[in-house]
Amino acid sequence: MSNTFGRVFRFTTWGESHGPAIGAVVDGCPAGLPLGEADIQRELDRRRPGQSRVTTQRQEEDRAEILSGVFEGHTTGTPISVLIRNKDADPSKYEPLRELYRPGHADFTYMAKWGRRDHRGGGRSSARESAGRVAAGAIAKKLLALQGVSIVGFVSRIGEVAWEGEAFDPAVIESNPVRCPDPATAQRMEEAILAARKAGDSVGGVVTVVAAGVPAGWGEPYYARLDADLASAMMGIHAVKGVEIGAGFRAAGMRGSRHNDPFDYVGGRVTPRTNNAGGILGGISSGAPIVVRFAVKPTSSILIEQETVSVSGERRTVKVEGRHDPCVAPRAVPIGEAMMAVVLADHWRLSLGSRVD
Ligand SMILES: Cc1cc2nc3c(=O)[nH]c(=O)nc-3n(C[C@H](O)[C@H](O)[C@H](O)COP(=O)(O)O)c2cc1C
Repeated sequence: MSNTFGRVFRFTTWGESHGPAIGAVVDGCPAGLPLGEADIQRELDRRRPGQSRVTTQRQEEDRAEILSGVFEGHTTGTPISVLIRNKDADPSKYEPLRELYRPGHADFTYMAKWGRRDHRGGGRSSARESAGRVAAGAIAKKLLALQGVSIVGFVSRIGEVAWEGEAFDPAVIESNPVRCPDPATAQRMEEAILAARKAGDSVGGVVTVVAAGVPAGWGEPYYARLDADLASAMMGIHAVKGVEIGAGFRAAGMRGSRHNDPFDYVGGRVTPRTNNAGGILGGISSGAPIVVRFAVKPTSSILIEQETVSVSGERRTVKVEGRHDPCVAPRAVPIGEAMMAVVLADHWRLSLGSRVD
């Protein structure tokens, strides 16, 4: 159940943190899209562990292997299966945790639901699963590029350090390890992450994802609203605890006169002049950039001793050793972009049948 996302452009992820491999099967991608492993690899490299001093030091190459659905460099319209082997799994660190419920993790709830779990690295609940989403997102991004849509994500907050600017340069974002558009703020964010790590602790953050070039008219009313699908997509990422679209929660403190985006007519197109709506009205894209923000909680695995209970109900303490991200926000950027891409690819395909004129 629920390992599949999307309606027409849809994907299923599979695999566990310490199993032999993880992967995704993408169905509903039209035939004829030029696609190679390098297209997927580029995105996986941005998500992979061990990429910088602010991420986990688990060293995974995350090499993408396409097993099906591509022939002579183009998609064939059949399911595209992507395999990523786990190479640097070290289950020994998890042996002392086999009988304990780690606070902030899914150990307890997986047991409550299924009565058994793969405890190694969190098993299926591990964010390694998100490599499959990033692979699916890479395919969706290529598809969307043909429609003139581009997607960029960045870190807009780490702990108390926030960047509230609007203009961003993708090259600057990718040039610093935290993926913040402003180098000076990026430096302070990095210091906040390293300080948390030094204290054996962790810190949360906010990721912003912007899709430009989405034409007006993608989306559905009510139960498949574009904003609802995006919220579900982002909320479904590991450690995400809040999602905002456009002005989001700030809208509650505004008056209508300020929140409404006045319409203009520019270059033969109806264009909202401001973007408090985040590019979506009535569940349908307005042609303005789609802006989604999501908050990630501080990483659950910390070296500080915490209180918990064992599987048999004894009170215990636990220190979660091993290799962990002191802040998951920088690596969540390509995951957020991927989820934006799969939702938009799905809605592009749905939109194709919406009129006959
Ligand atoms: C890119 C990424 C990396 C993550 N790495 C870790 C980690 O190293 N340690 C950890 O405790 N949680 C990590 N998480 C978060 C956990 O997977 C997540 O908090 C846990 O499975 C419980 O699920 P929930 O927070 O969504 O309720 C990461 C999340 C993301 C998005």
